Amino acid sequence: MKIAVVVGTRPEIIKMSPIIRELEERGKDYDIIHTGQHYDHEVSEIFFEELELPEPDRYLGVGSGSQGEQTGNALIGLEKAFEELDTQTVLVQGDTNTVLAGALAGIKMGLNVGHVEAGLRSYDYRMPEEYNRRLTDHASNLLFAPTENSAEILRSESVWGDIHVTGNTVIDACLQNMEIAERKAEFDFELPDEYVLVTAHRAENVDDKEILKGLLNVFENLDTPQIYPIHPRAEKMFKEFDLYDRLKNIEGMKLVEPQGYLEFLVLMRDCEYILTDSGGIQEEATAPNIKKKVFVLRKSTERPEAVEADFAEIVGTDDEEILHRIKEFNKENWDPKEGPYGKGDAGKKIVDIICEQ
Ligand code: UD1
Ligand code: UDP
Repeated sequence: MKIAVVVGTRPEIIKMSPIIRELEERGKDYDIIHTGQHYDHEVSEIFFEELELPEPDRYLGVGSGSQGEQTGNALIGLEKAFEELDTQTVLVQGDTNTVLAGALAGIKMGLNVGHVEAGLRSYDYRMPEEYNRRLTDHASNLLFAPTENSAEILRSESVWGDIHVTGNTVIDACLQNMEIAERKAEFDFELPDEYVLVTAHRAENVDDKEILKGLLNVFENLDTPQIYPIHPRAEKMFKEFDLYDRLKNIEGMKLVEPQGYLEFLVLMRDCEYILTDSGGIQEEATAPNIKKKVFVLRKSTERPEAVEADFAEIVGTDDEEILHRIKEFNKENWDPKEGPYGKGDAGKKIVDIICEQ
C-alpha cells in the first residue's frame, strides 16, 4: 500500500511527525508531499530539521493566495503528485486549505482518504477552517477522531467513513520531543524569569483592525512580561494597519520571530500562562509535561474538551473582558483535570488502523 502524507503548514508538519516516525520505523512505503502553503523557513523547513523528518518527496510550491486560488492550486498539484507517486492512501491532518485540497484530490481519484483530527467543530462560519474540516470529514473514508466527543459529532452528521478514536498526535509530539527540546532548544533572545506566552494569527482576529487594537490594549495592561513569536500573517496585518510600532514598543513585550518547535515546547512549559487563538496550542497545553492555562482569544473553540478539563477558557476578543478574566486567574489554586487528548500513542494507533486496510 502506497501512502501519501500531505502537509502544507506549520501545525500539519508537527502533528504528522509522529505518524511519519511510525511509518518510517515500520518500513512502510510512503511519500511526504508538501504543498508549500507555508514556505518561509521558520514556519516550514525548520520543523523538518528539528524533528529530523525525511525531506518531502514532492514540494508543490503553492504559496499564498486567495482561498480559492490556494486551494485550487494545491488540488491541481496534489492530483498530479498522487498520479506520479502511485498513491493509494492519502493522509491529511487538520483543517487548512491544504487538507481540503488533499481530500478532494484523493476522492476524485478513488483513493483511500484518512483524515487525522476529524470531527472538530467551532460552528463559526467566519472561519475557513470550519468548512475545510467539515468538507474533509465528509470526503474521507477513514476518520481519526481525537476524542469520543469528536467521534460523536461525526456520527451525528452521518459521515460515510469509518470512525476511530485515537487521541491527538500533538500529544505524541509533545511527549516525544520535550527531552530533546531541553537539550537542544536555542534562543536568540533573553528569557525573562516570568512571562506570558502569546500567539495570535487567525484570520478572523488579525485581519480585523479593531480586534488588533483591543489586543494591543490587553498587552499594554498586563502585569507580566510577554513573549510573542509573531506569525507572518499577523506581522503583515499589524504593519498594514499601522499598529506594528505600537506593538513593538510595548514595555515588557518581547516580539520575536516564529520559534522552532523545540524552542516553543520550552516556552510553553516555562510560561505563566498562554494567551492565544491557535488551535494546536490549546491541545498542547493539556499535555502532562506542559500543563498550562490557556486564555483563548476567540468567541468559540472546536476544542471544547480542553475547556471542560479546565485548561482552556474562551475569553473572546473584547479587551476589558480579557483583562478581567486574566486577573481572576490564580495559578496557585488552578487544578485542571487529566488532559483529554490521549496518552501520546495516537500516531501508533493511526498507523495500526491504516495497515489493517
Ligand atoms: C493557515 C491556515 C490556518 C492555520 C495556520 C497555521 C488556512 C485557511 N489557514 O493560516 O488554519 O492555523 O495556517 O499557522 O489554511 N505568509 C508568509 N509566509 C509563509 C506563509 C504565509 O509570509 O510562509 C503570510 C502571507 O502573507 C500569507 C499569509 O501569511 O498571505 C496567510 O497565509 P495562509 O497560508 O494563507 O494562511 P495562515 O494565516 O498561515
Ligand atoms: N508553534 C511553533 N512555534 C511558534 C508558534 C507555534 O512551533 O512560534 C507550534 C505549536 O507548538 C503548535 C503549532 O505550532 O504545535 C500551532 O500552529 P499554529 O498556531 O500556527 O496553527 P493552529 O494550530 O492554530 O492551526
